[in-house]
Amino acid sequence: MVQFSTNKLRISSGMRPTGQLHLGHVVGALKKWVALQDQYQSFHFIADWHALTSDYADTSKINDYRIEMMIDWLSAGLDPQKSVLFVQSAVPEHAELHLILSMITPLGWLERVPTYKEQQQNVADKDLGNYGFLGYPVLQAADILMYKANAVPVGEDQVPHVELTREIGRRFNTLYKETFPEPQALLTQVPRLPGLDGRKMSKSYNNDISLSDSPEKIWKKIKGMMTDPARKRRHDPGNPDVCPVYSYHKIYSSEETKQVVQRDCRTAKIGCIDCKNWVSTSLVKDLTPLLDSRKKYVSRKGDIQDIIKDGNNRAAEVAKETMQEVRQAVKFSG
Ligand code: TRP
Ligand code: SF4
Repeated sequence: MVQFSTNKLRISSGMRPTGQLHLGHVVGALKKWVALQDQYQSFHFIADWHALTSDYADTSKINDYRIEMMIDWLSAGLDPQKSVLFVQSAVPEHAELHLILSMITPLGWLERVPTYKEQQQNVADKDLGNYGFLGYPVLQAADILMYKANAVPVGEDQVPHVELTREIGRRFNTLYKETFPEPQALLTQVPRLPGLDGRKMSKSYNNDISLSDSPEKIWKKIKGMMTDPARKRRHDPGNPDVCPVYSYHKIYSSEETKQVVQRDCRTAKIGCIDCKNWVSTSLVKDLTPLLDSRKKYVSRKGDIQDIIKDGNNRAAEVAKETMQEVRQAVKFSG
C-alpha cells in the first residue's frame, strides 16, 4: 500500500457514473486531475450515490458504469500509485458525515443553490422532487470535507456547491470544534469544449464525442459540426471567434494552425471542410494513447477491481480518522 503524502495540499473531486464518458469529461476534468496529481494528494471518487439522486429508478447498469469510469480514468493517466481512486458508496462514512451535516444545513441554503431549481425544471424525464436530490450538495460537502480538502477541481457550474461546502464546514467548526479547512474551487484556464451543436457537450443532447467513437466516427461527427452560421456558402467569410469548431482548435491545434484559421476563415480562403479536417486529425492524434490504453484495460477487468479495492481501503483509512474527530466534536463518541 502506498503511503499518503502528508506535506501536500489535498484535493477531492468526484464524477457521477451515468454512462460512457465523452470528450467534455476528458478536457474539462480528467486532464486537469492528471496534471494536478503530482502537486497535490488527490482523492477522486466515483460518485455513485450522487448518480442515485436523479437516476434512482433504474440502477441496473450502475456496476458496469463504475468499472467503465475507472477504466476511463486510468486510461486518461490517473495513477493509482499517486491518487486515491475509489468508489463513494464503498466508504459508508460519507453517508454518516452527510447525515450529520444535514442537521446543520438550513433548508434555505439548499433551495437557493442554482442547479437545484434549474435541474428540476429542465430534467423532464425524471421526478426530482425527492429528498435526496435537495440534499445533493450536502453529500458533496461530505465528500470534500471528509478528506479535509484544500482545493476542489471542478467546472464553473459546481462553484456554488463548493461555496456551500465552505459554509457548512464553517458552521460545523463554529458549532462544535474547529475540524475542517476551507476548500477553494480550483478552476483552471482550459477553454471549454462545446458540443457538436455549440451547446454544452452532453450525452443527453446527443451532441457529444464519446470515448467509444472510432476515428472514422469522430471525423463524421466533426464534419457535420455546426460552424459560424454566417458562413453558409464556401465563399462567405466567417468568424472563428463565434464558431464551435474553433473552440476545438483552441484545445487541439498548434499555434500555427490557429493563426491560419484565424486569418483565412475571415477571407474565405479556407473552407470549413479543410478546417474541420485539421482539427479532427489532431484530436484523433491526441486521443489515440487514451483509446489504446482503454483497450488494454478493458481486457483486465480483474485488475480494475483490485485497483478499486485498494483505493477504497486507502480512502477509508482517512475517512475513519475524520469520522472519529467528527463524532468526538458532536459528542457522539463512546
Ligand atoms: N457534483 C459533481 C458533478 O456533478 C460531482 C461530485 C460529487 C463532486 N461529489 C463531489 C465534485 C465532490 C467535486 C467534489 O460534477
Ligand atoms: Fe468555423 Fe473553420 Fe468554418 Fe471558420 S473555416 S467557420 S473556423 S469551421
